[in-house]
Amino acid sequence: MTRKITKAIFPVAGQGTRFLPATKSVPKEIMTLVDRPLIQYAIDEAREAGITEFIFVTSRGKGALEDYFDHSPQLEASLEAKGKTDLLNILRATNMESGAIAYVRQHKALGLGHAVWCAGRLIGNEPFAVILPDDVIQGEESCLKQMVEAYEETGGNIVAAMEVPYEKTSSYGVLDVKEDMGQIVSTRGMVEKPKADEAPSNLAVIGRYILNPSVMENLSRTQKGAGGEIQLTDAIAQEIEEGRDVYGLRFRGQRFDCGSKAGFLQATVSFGLAREELRDEFSNYLSELHSLRSAAE
Ligand code: UTP
Repeated sequence: MTRKITKAIFPVAGQGTRFLPATKSVPKEIMTLVDRPLIQYAIDEAREAGITEFIFVTSRGKGALEDYFDHSPQLEASLEAKGKTDLLNILRATNMESGAIAYVRQHKALGLGHAVWCAGRLIGNEPFAVILPDDVIQGEESCLKQMVEAYEETGGNIVAAMEVPYEKTSSYGVLDVKEDMGQIVSTRGMVEKPKADEAPSNLAVIGRYILNPSVMENLSRTQKGAGGEIQLTDAIAQEIEEGRDVYGLRFRGQRFDCGSKAGFLQATVSFGLAREELRDEFSNYLSELHSLRSAAE
């Protein structure tokens, strides 16, 4: 019997330098995909997976993120008075229950592994999820929900995995596959950012994890790895070394790297086209743009 996953850590303490100057004053997680901040997509995905406790690892300058989760009774009352029920429902769907959110501060940007470790006391001795809000996944079913279901089947640690071209493995943590069972793979190792010719596979780990509490202990002992940061990958790889299972799940859905400008733009187009009220106007615009470019070439 596996324990139910109720807690998720959202590491949001990074500086988001790839989006400067915007991130001088706006946290990356508040940047908007169509009309919702990135963090809202992550929260909705977690809720769909049954998460009830949301732990944010923040840093200086992330005040707007904390404010975003405050209820707005005045705004709600004014929308209600004007009979704007649709907007009111959209707003209310973002409300979080009191006590469901906790904030921990990462005082120094020592890397993702360190950010996760900062939430250790709030996690205690139970398995937990980690969601990186800059990885946005579009699909019919929440990626984390798929992972929770896989976890209930296999136990162990689970990471979300997707195939990438070999020339891109140096941007990801990559799985060394022991047994490929189709949607789920078991692993014998994990390597952070390997070069194409050194990568054990092209199955890359993206920002969704279900982890055993032993990973927190590993993080306490983990030394700085690639890029001088404390890497979550190293602490997960240690699980395998110590004989505990780590599985990769080939999730259903399309992942966008919204931590990069190109990824954010692609996500904007894809999420824009997925919205019924925007689809016609937006796709017409894109077709016109495409014909203009083809004509110019
Ligand atoms: P990134 O590698 O994207 O770094 O972090 P970043 O600082 O957010 O962005 P750039 O590269 O400067 O543009 C991946 C995830 O890990 C978190 C980030 O908030 C993001 O969700 N993170 C990273 C931390 O919480 N703390 C850290 O020390 C580093």
